[in-house]
Amino acid sequence: FIDIRKLQPSTGICTFDPGFTSTGSCDSTITYIDGKKGVLLYRGYDIEDLAEQGDFLDSAYLLLMGELPTSQQKADFDRELTLHTLVHEQLIQFFKGFKHDAHPMAIMVGIVGALSAFEPYSADLADPESRMRGCLRLISRMPTLAAIAYRTSMGYPVIYPRNDLDYASRFLHMMFAWPTQKYEVDAVLARALDKILILHMDHEQNASTSTVRTAGSSQANPFACIASGIAALWGPAHGGANEAVLRMLEEIGSKENIPRALERAKNKQDPFRLMGFGHRVYKTFDPRAKVMRKVCHEILEHLKIQNDPLLDIAMELEQVATHDQYFVQRGLYPNVDFYSGIVLRALGIPVSMYTVLFAVARTVGWVSQWKEMAEQQQQLPKISRPRQMYTGHMQRDYVPLKERG
Ligand code: ACO
Repeated sequence: FIDIRKLQPSTGICTFDPGFTSTGSCDSTITYIDGKKGVLLYRGYDIEDLAEQGDFLDSAYLLLMGELPTSQQKADFDRELTLHTLVHEQLIQFFKGFKHDAHPMAIMVGIVGALSAFEPYSADLADPESRMRGCLRLISRMPTLAAIAYRTSMGYPVIYPRNDLDYASRFLHMMFAWPTQKYEVDAVLARALDKILILHMDHEQNASTSTVRTAGSSQANPFACIASGIAALWGPAHGGANEAVLRMLEEIGSKENIPRALERAKNKQDPFRLMGFGHRVYKTFDPRAKVMRKVCHEILEHLKIQNDPLLDIAMELEQVATHDQYFVQRGLYPNVDFYSGIVLRALGIPVSMYTVLFAVARTVGWVSQWKEMAEQQQQLPKISRPRQMYTGHMQRDYVPLKERG
């Protein structure tokens, strides 16, 4: 990395880097990625170890606080997150204002932004205690908000959080329980969701995290910053890809149609891309995709689903594409989203909720990055303010309306 800031004031030199493919926007101790080797570390710990050996609380604490928690710290963290799972009753009225078929991501952008109005004591960027409160409240309340977004969009009664359950089980309970029936959360499915949450928590300066940091640099409150992150995550090139993968597999329909899909993906005149393939940083297999593929097989085995046609197509597609010169030469391999859609579908999560669930998990990373940014700056963060390469007219004389024809 070259620190261009030192050159800029005297020389006026600026870098031109659309899409920020070669620009570091901050220094950070949270997440490390080696895109060539397919390595992802949270605070130095391998993502596979964290997902296989740890749980949601371990990774969330690690990202937010910097170290894995002791037993006491973990219990305190759990209590702190559990105490604040309820949202203001008045906020529930907001959900009812949305059109019945509104996309849950549209609801989440609005509702999380609206939290700013309900959490005045958790929004002071300059105060460490207030900052931490904002981070914890967001992590606690996101599953509740996500589940209410789904239930109100379906016209179902809202289920309040059961605080005797762990984070993932609580979310599944709020999604699927029914007031008039007993509902037991399946522990294997909850553990799978726990792993999915860990895998999606942070991924250094991706589009949504950069958006959160950019919004935070203007000293906006954390709820508004996370709402901006949710908006950025929504697009199909980012968090919306898991939804797009499932639709693509359905569209391909059978293994026989895979060659045609590959040809379309290679054709630059065709906007079709292999969803769940390729990544700005990974030029090999995404390490999260490896864990996700394992979770996928475990879940289907647990649910005794043999011959899931979409999984069959996905495995064949992976096999063929990873041996195809077009994809190999460009370093296009399956990313985390390739298998996550199949797992979420097996968990019974509706397709429109896939990206919402990603947002629930990524909230841990977003608040950790937002907090780090605030801590790094002794006073207040330096506002993000890129320049541009202007390609329009230079100064012209104003033309009065009557002379414009
Ligand atoms: N299918 C076919 N070709 C592709 C794909 C794909 N999925 N992805 C990239 N390419 C090709 C491009 O056409 C380009 O080819 P060229 O050099 O011949 O012009 C080359 O690979 C490089 O692609 P870029 O678009 O420049 O790569 P970039 O780093 O900008 O894009 C991205 C990364 C957006 C993830 C891209 O690979 C993509 O659109 N993938 C599908 C969507 C997806 O799965 N997104 C999820 C990302 S992971 C996440 O957000 C959690």
